[in-house]
Amino acid sequence: MESGICYIKEEYLVPEIKHNAAQKDPVELGNKRKSNEENTSGDKKQQKYQKTNKKERKRGQNKNRPVFKQDSSLFLCHSLMNGPNLEKCTHQNCRYVHDLAAYFASKPEDLGEKCPVFDAIGFCTRGVTCRFAKAHLDAEGRNIKSPDYNENKARTSMNGITNELQVRLRKREYDFTRSKQLVNQSDKLRDENKKKVVASGSVKPLRDMTVVEDKATTAEIVETVKPPDTEKAIGAVVDNVETGGRDTAKKPPVDFAEKLILSPLTTVGNLPFRRICKEFGADITCGEMACAVPLVKGLTQEWALTKRHESEHVFGVQLCGNNPNIIAQAAQLLQETTSIDYIDLNIGCPIELIYQHGGGSALMRRTNVLETIVRSCSSMSLKIPFTVKMRTGVYADKSVAHELMPLVEEWGAAAVTLHGRSREQRYMKSANWQYIEECAAKVKYIPVIGNGDILNFEDYNEKRKQAPHVSSVMIGRGALIKPWIFKEIKEQKPFNPTSAERFDILRKYVNYGLEHWGSDMKGVENTRRFLLEWQSFMYRYIPYELLANPPQQINQRPQKFRGRDEMETLMSSPNSTDWVRLSEMLLGPVPVGFEFVPKHKANAY
Ligand SMILES: Cc1cc2nc3c(=O)[nH]c(=O)nc-3n(C[C@H](O)[C@H](O)[C@H](O)COP(=O)(O)O)c2cc1C
Ligand SMILES: [Zn+2]
Ligand SMILES: [Zn+2]
Repeated sequence: MESGICYIKEEYLVPEIKHNAAQKDPVELGNKRKSNEENTSGDKKQQKYQKTNKKERKRGQNKNRPVFKQDSSLFLCHSLMNGPNLEKCTHQNCRYVHDLAAYFASKPEDLGEKCPVFDAIGFCTRGVTCRFAKAHLDAEGRNIKSPDYNENKARTSMNGITNELQVRLRKREYDFTRSKQLVNQSDKLRDENKKKVVASGSVKPLRDMTVVEDKATTAEIVETVKPPDTEKAIGAVVDNVETGGRDTAKKPPVDFAEKLILSPLTTVGNLPFRRICKEFGADITCGEMACAVPLVKGLTQEWALTKRHESEHVFGVQLCGNNPNIIAQAAQLLQETTSIDYIDLNIGCPIELIYQHGGGSALMRRTNVLETIVRSCSSMSLKIPFTVKMRTGVYADKSVAHELMPLVEEWGAAAVTLHGRSREQRYMKSANWQYIEECAAKVKYIPVIGNGDILNFEDYNEKRKQAPHVSSVMIGRGALIKPWIFKEIKEQKPFNPTSAERFDILRKYVNYGLEHWGSDMKGVENTRRFLLEWQSFMYRYIPYELLANPPQQINQRPQKFRGRDEMETLMSSPNSTDWVRLSEMLLGPVPVGFEFVPKHKANAY
């Protein structure tokens, strides 16, 4: 028995096909053992499998992904969105379509008789352009509202950016005095502390890695800053401001202890996905990493990452950046203009470009800068705690988390998450939970969140046992592969959905996607793209009943298998053309020229 292989019961095994190494897909690579066996099956599907993942596998993100373009001639003018003769187009030289009949003639068939958005909310803002429009157009072609539609209740998500704020940021009129003060104060405090320590001769001063940071692009720093009134607040959020000491009796605004936390997940950790995880029992959710610079510049796309669904009871926004001033400005903006419960700083991000500019995991090597960031952002608000998410270090043989974690606590973070791998390791090795425990034991007061390789309730139990100083766990790929993992952990038993039940989860996701991204052509295609990105992880789920030695382990590649029914087989296919087929069952045929290349490589084994 090889440890890297997930063995499947005899009756579900599918014979291997012989082919050259360059064309092997990840599943088949796991089956080197059997790869010399003759292909005795003439099955069409098998030949299709053979074609998968021909592209060279690089680390990190897939570059050169095809961009899906839409024909703008098909776009209807906004004035006709709710049907004819309701509004007049006020734009000179409006380049959108104003002829409803022509628009309908060019519009593809509706995707279904019921509009998921109309059914959920009682009104579909995409009106005439909705791909389910007939469900809510009256005889005159006007967009109708259901009698029980309630505008106030219809908004189920919040945050993002208003036009007004966008204008203020672009004109550099937002007052960032507060963040500037806190950064200056934090710098001062750090330097004073350093001097004391160096003078006492106990520690050598640390030298930070040198990088070129982003420039502070926003409002020029006001020199005549108000006398700091929050000086003593620098330190942990739970610090007693009057005494400057830690008041352990005071209840922190967010309780990070004993929680199941959904990882921040770029692209795939979108709002519709988080809704699914909430329904399966995730306690705390976090948005996809947002970069400080575009936030401070007011870019709509970045602000979209701050959106929160009403079901996300404890919700955080994760920040990434390399410059203390800009990160503090972004934190101030989030605190003052959005509804969120905490802000997390990503100092584990391995992306090369971010790293080279001193952000993400490079901050683990820039402790002076990190100190300023954590001190300033932690002291900014007593209501919105600041947390830090890190890796073991940059290099596999040079772990630094055990030194950094107690420091991050001292500087004021309200919780710290440790992903038990280094930047260098990416996903190639198992997360080191022994080291996570070692680090957690060094942190005195704040909750430590352990992260890495949890796919089953058994993994959860084992890791909790192995790391008693860890108070909560964070789950990333485990939730992508099986979003019901939260339920499994809470119920302490496996949940073994049938393929029909799993397909219902996809359908629900699609409905949430249409509600979030819109049910017009653009929204449908966005929803499809994100469904496919998710499926690039989800296909790795192996139904419990098929496993020779349950439970499935996250880093194991399965032997080639088929499911108990056709749908189960389709859902386990590593072939992206099969994922597209799944999407077509829910969202209709793909547009002409459609191609899909997953964004993340972490979906592979
Ligand atoms: C697709 C994908 C996207 C991720 N995006 C982020 C991110 O935006 N911010 C972050 O801190 N970590 C990100 N991570 C790392 C995860 O949050 C988590 O730390 C890591 O996957 C280890 O946990 P796991 O073994 O449970 O997946 C991402 C991971 C994956 C697979
Ligand atoms: Zn117009
Ligand atoms: Zn609709």
